[in-house]
Amino acid sequence: MKNILHIISSPRQEASASIKLGNNIIEKLLEKYPGSRVKTINVSEKNYPALDQTMIGAFKVPVTEQSPEQRNALRISNDAVAELADADIAIIGSPLYNFHIPSTLKAWLDLIVRPGLSFRYANGKSEGLLGDKKIYLALASNGVYSDGPMKPMDFAEPYLRHILGFIGLNDITTFRVEGGGISGIMETALEKGLASVAV
Ligand SMILES: Cc1cc2nc3c(=O)[nH]c(=O)nc-3n(C[C@H](O)[C@H](O)[C@H](O)COP(=O)(O)O)c2cc1C
Repeated sequence: MKNILHIISSPRQEASASIKLGNNIIEKLLEKYPGSRVKTINVSEKNYPALDQTMIGAFKVPVTEQSPEQRNALRISNDAVAELADADIAIIGSPLYNFHIPSTLKAWLDLIVRPGLSFRYANGKSEGLLGDKKIYLALASNGVYSDGPMKPMDFAEPYLRHILGFIGLNDITTFRVEGGGISGIMETALEKGLASVAV
């Protein structure tokens, strides 16, 4: 029995390849770990706030010294960190938008990368605090970025690996539905992406 967290960032619902891919990963996980709990957070519908002056200022204030305004400002970030901390396995779905992740997913990441809660600096080195979780990335794009001429433009996957690793999440496996806009590839892109899933 595992706690599984599904982070969705495509707003396209039934039409979304990254959601279909994420759901396929979850189906396989449920076969492997029957009775697991699945919690879904659709960041495209959450309206997570961009970091503002109050939040950034509050990040560095010890809990016991936070003002009511600072405590209030941090609540949404505390909740987002707790939801991820509770999960044994997280699936993070992302469309490629303008060669990167959607701003809504970046907003979620800005809330979960928290000094003292999900990372800290010790002896001049950063240390991730959310270790011991399995992460699956479910990525969708019109182009092909895993290999070939567009690989140098693959900013999203390396970024996700880096920022998740920064908070201690290093056990990452990526699955992709790619080439969804390229004739000759698009016809089988979804089928190939779903078939590649192994957990
Ligand atoms: C605003 C926007 C920007 C996009 N930018 C890119 C891009 O830079 N590269 C690419 O290969 N596909 C791009 N696409 C295509 C999407 O990545 C593709 O449709 C993908 O399947 C979307 O994920 P979803 O099916 O989960 O919604 C873009 C789509 C939109 C709507």
